[in-house]
Order: sequence, then C-alpha cells, then structure tokens
Amino acid sequence: MKAKAQLHGLPSYKPGKPIEEVKRELGLTKVVKLASNENPYGASPKAAKAIQDAASQTAIYPDGYAADIREKVASKIGVDENQLIFGNGSDEVIQFLCRAFLSPDTNTVTADPTFSQYKLNATIEGAEVREVPSIDGVHDLDAMLEEIDDNTRIVWVCNPNNPSGTYVNETAFLNFLERVPSHVLVVSDEAYYEYVTVDDYPETLPLLKKYDNLMILRTFSKAYGLAALRIGYGVANPSLISLIDPVRPPFNNTTFSHAAAAAALEDDAFIQTCVEKNTEALKQFEEFCDKHQLKYYPSQTNFILIDFNTPGDEIFDYLLKKGFIVRSGQALGFPTCVRITAGTEEENKELFAVLEEMLLTKVVGQ
Ligand SMILES: Cc1ncc(COP(=O)(O)O)c(C=O)c1O
Repeated sequence: MKAKAQLHGLPSYKPGKPIEEVKRELGLTKVVKLASNENPYGASPKAAKAIQDAASQTAIYPDGYAADIREKVASKIGVDENQLIFGNGSDEVIQFLCRAFLSPDTNTVTADPTFSQYKLNATIEGAEVREVPSIDGVHDLDAMLEEIDDNTRIVWVCNPNNPSGTYVNETAFLNFLERVPSHVLVVSDEAYYEYVTVDDYPETLPLLKKYDNLMILRTFSKAYGLAALRIGYGVANPSLISLIDPVRPPFNNTTFSHAAAAAALEDDAFIQTCVEKNTEALKQFEEFCDKHQLKYYPSQTNFILIDFNTPGDEIFDYLLKKGFIVRSGQALGFPTCVRITAGTEEENKELFAVLEEMLLTKVVGQ
C-alpha cells in the first residue's frame, strides 16, 4: 500500500488527557480539566432539553442542508443563508478549505505559533506551509504578507490566536485585508469571538460585502459549550460557499448538534453570564501572575498562556498530580509556558492555591 508521502511520520493530534484516564492513572477522586478551552459552565439548559427532545430521532439521517440551524445562524449574525457552511466543528471547515484550495504545487501562510490544524491539514494536502514567527504572541501581518506569492492559496488569521490568546486589532486586520492579493483566501478563525471584550477587535462580517476572498470561522464548541457535539461554521460569499460545499460529507453534523446549537443560540443571557465570569476569571489570573511576577500573554479568549520560565512539561506534570489537566506550552511553540483554560471561580481558586504552593516551595524547575 502506498499512502501519500506526506503522511509518513505525521503525528496524530494529541488532545488534552481525558478526566477519567487521569483519575484512574493517578488514583485521584477529583480532576479538573482546564486543557481544551471548553466552557466550564457547560451549555445553556435549553440545549440539553433540545437534545432530549430529539432523542427519538436516531434512525433518521440528519438534515444534510442543516436548514433549521442555517436559518437561525443567518438571522442571528445578519447574513444570507447561502453564506454559511456547517462543519463537524470548525475543525472540519478548516479541513474543507484545505481540501478545496491546497495541493502540492501551492502554499499557505500561517502565523507561528498558531492553531495546529491549519498546518496539519495543509500538510496532508501536500501544500507548502509558510510559518511566520509572531511578535509577542501576535501575528506579524506585514511579514505574513511578504510570504504571499502567486502560489499562495490561503492565509490564516487566528483571531484571537490559540495558543497565545492575543488578537489582531481592527486597523491591522483591515490594512492586511486590503493588501492581500484577491487570489488568496483570508481565513479569520474566530473560535473565541464571544469572549472578546476589547473595542478594537475587527468586526469582520460587514467586510464580506467588500471582500470575496474572506472566510470567517465560528464555533459552538467554546462559549456555547457544545464541544462534544461538534458543530462550527464558516461564513463567506455565496460563490465561495458553493465552491467548497461539494467537499463536505453529506451528513456531517448530527440531528442533535443542529437541535442543541439552535437552542443555544436563543439563550443570549447564558452566553452573557459566561462571558462576564470569564472576564472576571482572566482578571484574577492576571492578578495572580502580577503578584508572582510571571509573564502572561494578554488574552481575549477563555484561556491564558503563562510563562513559568520552566519547561512547560514540568509544570504540566506537577499540576496533573494535583488533579489539574492543563496544556504544556512545549508542544504549542511556547516551551516555558503553560496554557490554562479559565475554570469556574472555585476551580480557579483551587488552582491558584496549588500554583502558589508550587512557586513558593520551588518544587518545580530547580
Ligand atoms: C482557534 C481555533 N479554531 C478552531 C478550533 C476548533 O474548534 P471546533 O472544531 O471544536 O469548532 C479551535 C479549538 O480549540 C481553536 O482553538
């Protein structure tokens, strides 16, 4: 058998460790997962009810056109229904884009470090990946522009960026978009959109009127708390959507993800409360870092990247033994950092106590 050459030696995605596995391995009764930027408050109760109401519909394929959720998202964000494409998580929309646009004679431009799935999917398609070092966690858009040539097909702006949590502001993004050649697709990956609180974050949806080469990605996995159901979407002009839609498998969401996402969309109060709590939690993380003179990257997301000046794996191991699953920065391009999802107020308090003890007793990194 001969698989694509680029698949040989390609590592599989390593997700955050599952809670039950950590409990079993370490004999812990309580484990808190702060590793994958999920919503610690879960989802709107309306979403759970919608799943229960749909429970009898397992034998019938889901609506491949996603008509109901399509109509609800379109009306919520003020676009036409034919401007949307739904994926099994926004991960799958990234896959569609790479499959549709990239091949061995093309290249794609990303920031570095950024969300790993752009590079992975581009590599699978055999495209060259041009990674442009970020400046203090923020995309260097000028340097990214310089990497674009006739063979560039996609440029990725992860905004806010995972794993740094930092963002590209409106002026910088508009300036960039204006200068990207029209043959290059600009992807604005806005997985953490709902958590953003700054005023100068780019509002990209209105830009679709001017730019045919713009695609916006959003997801129900983060603030909406539906990561388990796998539903995210892309927004672009209808011609771009119809170009990539044939790549999409016929029934790529489930009846339950459609129902839950539609119900979750109606609960603005839930999202608002979660965002307020997240903003407060981030403030507490920043205060903790300031108190202990730890560098952190200012975050517009529901996670924070903290530099412990110690190999991230060591901090990860220490916290794991104490019942907290976080992400070591070593695999994320920030070797002395740890990325921590903001938990509930109680979880964060417990985490701060554990971290404080670790820092004061200097048990790690000595
Ligand atoms: C920047 C970014 N984009 C996309 C995704 C994928 O999210 P999902 O496939 O759950 O919609 C994530 C998940 O962590 C992310 O951080």
